[in-house]
Formats: sequence, structure tokens, C-alpha cells
Amino acid sequence: MEVIQYKAEMHEHSLGQRGEGKSIGLVPTMGALHGGHFSLIRRAREECDTVVVSIFVNPTQFAPGEDIDRYPRTLEADRLACEKLGVDALFVPPGDEVYLPGAETYVVQERLAGVLEGASRPAHFRGVLTVVLKLLNIVAPHVAYFGQKDYQQTVVMRRMVADLDVPVEVRVLPTVREPDGLAMSTRNQYLSPIERERAVCVHESLQLCRELFAAGERGAGKLKEAMHARIAREPAAGIDYVEIAKPDDLRPADPVEPGDVALVAVRIGDTRLIDNMILG
Ligand code: PAJ
Repeated sequence: MEVIQYKAEMHEHSLGQRGEGKSIGLVPTMGALHGGHFSLIRRAREECDTVVVSIFVNPTQFAPGEDIDRYPRTLEADRLACEKLGVDALFVPPGDEVYLPGAETYVVQERLAGVLEGASRPAHFRGVLTVVLKLLNIVAPHVAYFGQKDYQQTVVMRRMVADLDVPVEVRVLPTVREPDGLAMSTRNQYLSPIERERAVCVHESLQLCRELFAAGERGAGKLKEAMHARIAREPAAGIDYVEIAKPDDLRPADPVEPGDVALVAVRIGDTRLIDNMILG
């Protein structure tokens, strides 16, 4: 496995692979790799000739006061895991390599990036889309892999790729969960043992929504109320949003139909957790 730090070198590597007719799969990450990331890497390994994993804790997607400073950095363990999974190139640019001094061009989405996560974190998707477009330009993959865990991220990504004619296929893989249902996330590490127990309310609220939907409930208000009530049973849980939305444009769904998505964002103590489930 090659460990590459510089954009020019990464791009050369990809052009070389493309020149040999090889397909390239990119898994963009912020590191502290876990089972969710591994499932994306494994799939890329199955489907592509060359697998590139990027690790970059992207400053432009964190707002002031968010957790960029305490975000876990476990490069040596990540490197070993990637090696084991058969990754061909690990792209780990230093902070000052990605954004040029004086950079002022961003990818901004009008409506989609302002709802749900975007309402709570206004500049978040501007940062995500900008860094991912840069990574796509640098790595030039045929396929880019994302997790359903960050559902809205996959929607804004597909929108950007379509709107800007980016020559890449976006592939979305299911959320990988802990045995009790909690979606794997780097941020789960922030939870104390008691918070970790309480965090299961996030997944349980979605399960409840799915059960009520399966039993015939179609009213968004009723379904959201039930999710709220389940989460409110945990004293330390603060709800950021509970929503049921159309899968492709995230407009509110009511009545709810098969294929619509329930999405929640909850604060457990200082930790913000998101999760979602497709209904029907
Ligand atoms: P990060 O949080 O490191 O996640 C990298 C990828 O792993 C994302 O596509 C995310 O959805 C996926 N992922 C995380 N947890 C998962 C789980 N439990 N199951 C399945 N997939 C999971 O998302 C980002 O980084 C950044 O925003 C990034 C796209 C790299 C841009 O900076």
C-alpha cells in the first residue's frame, strides 16, 4: 500500500492506474476508521481494481465551537487496517496541502444543504461538498463510496454530481450497527458508559417508526410524535430534529409512503448523534 501525502502525487498515481485501464474506487473518510468505513472499503475492494482511501479531517465542514480539535486521530491504526483490507493507496494530505492560501471558491447548494443537518450546521455541507469535489478531482475515481448513515450527505452528494456533471458514480452502502442497533460512528467514542446506554434510544425511535409504519400508520405527525416520545424517555437526550422526508429531495413526507426516510439528530450530553431508516 502506498501512503501519499501530496495532491500532485495522488493525481499522478490515479492517472497511471487509469492509463493501465484500471477502475478506481475512492472511499473518502475523516479517519478513526471503524466497521462502517470498513464495509465501504471492502465493497470498493470487491468492485474496483484500485482502491484509494482518503483520510482528512476537513476544517471547512466544522463550525467554530464544534469538535474538530477533539476529533479522534488514529493514523497508525487506520494505516494498518487499510493495509489489511487490501487498500492500494492511502491519501493522507496534511492540513495545508488541501486548501491553498487565499482559497475562496466553495460548492454551495441552495435548498438541500439548508434543511435538517444544514439547519443545525449552516456551513457544514458547503465544507463537505467542497472537499469531496476536490478529492474527486485529485483522485479521479470511477466510483465513490458513501454510507447511508449520513443520509443527507448522500443526497447532497448525488445532487452535486448530477448538477455539476462530475464524472463519477456515487455508491451508497447500508449503515453498519453495533449489536444493540447504535449506528457505528467515530463520535460514539465521546459517549460515557451511561450515555452509551442511553444512545440506543436513537435507533429504537427509528425502529418504532418502522414498526408503526408496517402496522399501517401513514400520518407523519403520529410517527414523529412516537419517535419524540421514545427519545424523550431518556433524560439526557435533547432532540435536534425528528423528520420524515422524501428520499431524493428531503422534502417533508406526509402522508408517509414506502421508501420515505425517517431521520433523527439527538444530543446525548455533549455528543450529537444522527441516524436514519428507510421505511417500508
Ligand atoms: P466520516 O464520518 O469519516 O465517514 C466516511 C464515510 O463512512 C461516510 O460516507 C459515512 O457515511 C460512512 N460511514 C460512517 N459511519 C458509517 C456506518 N455506521 N455505516 C456505514 N457507513 C458509515 O462523512 C465523512 O467522514 C466526511 O463528511 C467526508 C465525506 C469524508 C468529507 O469530509
